[in-house]
Amino acid sequence: MVSRVIPVDPFDLVIFGGTGDLARRKILPGLFRRFNSGQMPEEARIIGAARSDMGREAFQDMIRRAVEEFGGPHDPEALTEFVGRLDYVAVDAMGDGGWEDLKGKLRAGVVRAFYFSVGPSLFGALAERLRGFGLADDDSRVVVEKPFGHDLASARALNVTLREHFHEEQIYRIDHYLGKETVQNLMAVRFGNMLFEPLWNAQYVDHIQITVAETVDVGGRGGYYDKAGAMRDMVQNHLMQLLCLIAMEPPARFEPDSVRDEKLKVIRALDPVDYHQIVRGQYEADDSQPGYRAHVDNQRSTTESFVAMKLAISNWRWAGTPFYLRTGKKLRARASEIAVVFKDAPHSIFGPEAGTHRNVLTIRLQPNEGMTLGVTIKEPGPGGMRLIDVPLDMSFADALGPDAEDVPDAYERLIMDVIRGNQTLFMRGDEVEAAWAWTDPIIEGWTARGDVPKPYDAGSSGPEDALMLMHKDGRKWRDIRV
Ligand code: BG6
Repeated sequence: MVSRVIPVDPFDLVIFGGTGDLARRKILPGLFRRFNSGQMPEEARIIGAARSDMGREAFQDMIRRAVEEFGGPHDPEALTEFVGRLDYVAVDAMGDGGWEDLKGKLRAGVVRAFYFSVGPSLFGALAERLRGFGLADDDSRVVVEKPFGHDLASARALNVTLREHFHEEQIYRIDHYLGKETVQNLMAVRFGNMLFEPLWNAQYVDHIQITVAETVDVGGRGGYYDKAGAMRDMVQNHLMQLLCLIAMEPPARFEPDSVRDEKLKVIRALDPVDYHQIVRGQYEADDSQPGYRAHVDNQRSTTESFVAMKLAISNWRWAGTPFYLRTGKKLRARASEIAVVFKDAPHSIFGPEAGTHRNVLTIRLQPNEGMTLGVTIKEPGPGGMRLIDVPLDMSFADALGPDAEDVPDAYERLIMDVIRGNQTLFMRGDEVEAAWAWTDPIIEGWTARGDVPKPYDAGSSGPEDALMLMHKDGRKWRDIRV
């Protein structure tokens, strides 16, 4: 049932930071899977580029080990064939070394893409040298990773730098949440069915909850994370993208600018958030494990590892329907879902003793991707009309059967989209800037007030105050569970 694999055009893909963590954990294992599925044509070449002076063979060995460790089950012969396609060039991002060598490896007449899997401080230097040494032209593509800036000013500066060398149509800003199968399914569910869209507004929807809960801590990434916090690391990008897909108007077409125009309108319609409507948290140590402050090696840290908030979208569709968002590390379960909670029926013909019941559409993003619609039915058996809620449950794994295993992960899909030249699932520059414009005042407010996050237990659902955020509105978060 999974769609046919259509090979992409021949390409040269250069990965700057090719020996780094992201390349080894995600990008190259992902490319291997696409190779295995037959999507990568014979003429595709992947070139790692980094500062280290290692040769081609050492790079191939490194990537073989990375795929073995992070790539899941694999056929060793296919892996040998795949790593045989890999090449490596030592390049000095800030100097002249290696650029002519790299240029010598690139071929004419194939798609040329440059993946900047490096810190944003190198984006400008790389872009300038790609043009200066004649490696990139107006058809080449550049792929950049988050964090795309630290605030509005730095994101703008990055956009200016990149656009000095490339057109917006050449720049692919990755938010890997947009590459997730179920995230794209949000659009299919909304715009491929007649059932939901007529009800998808403030008249019928009481509220929407978006939860991205993680069990992992920040261990190993403390240096970066302590400067970012959950707001910059997750809300400004991943949760914002989910919110946009849930709340946007139907785009006229499933095309890059149609979709991104609609997402941008949602971000621009967000009200500023009052600080009473936000709860920040930080996980504490327990008997067996260190807490956040030990993980980031900063005993006075006031950075949040959890955030929950209530948002309002000021437009005709959503005025009056709150959106509750929460995300955090070290929570009870790794569970991400969106719940659309519909309003009560206007009048119960069954009387008060039957109770009030609400329909809830839950879209599970990970794990156990799928959708559940809570519907109200009569409790079977005699004894009058008593109502109960039952789930209409659809797990995508059940629906797709064994094919579900072939569903590409976010990175593989997005890289293939770069080669195809399809920007629909990438963030446009103005979208990123609008998200920062909304985020900045919230973070500035915390700094100005000297806000200290509320402690929460590892393995919990976050701080008590986050529960109160909904309780005071007479609502309740859904349980965080797999
Ligand atoms: C990254 C964040 O962008 O997304 C991490 O920097 C986070 O902190 C990760 O853990 C979550 O991604 P996923 O795909 O595991 O939900």
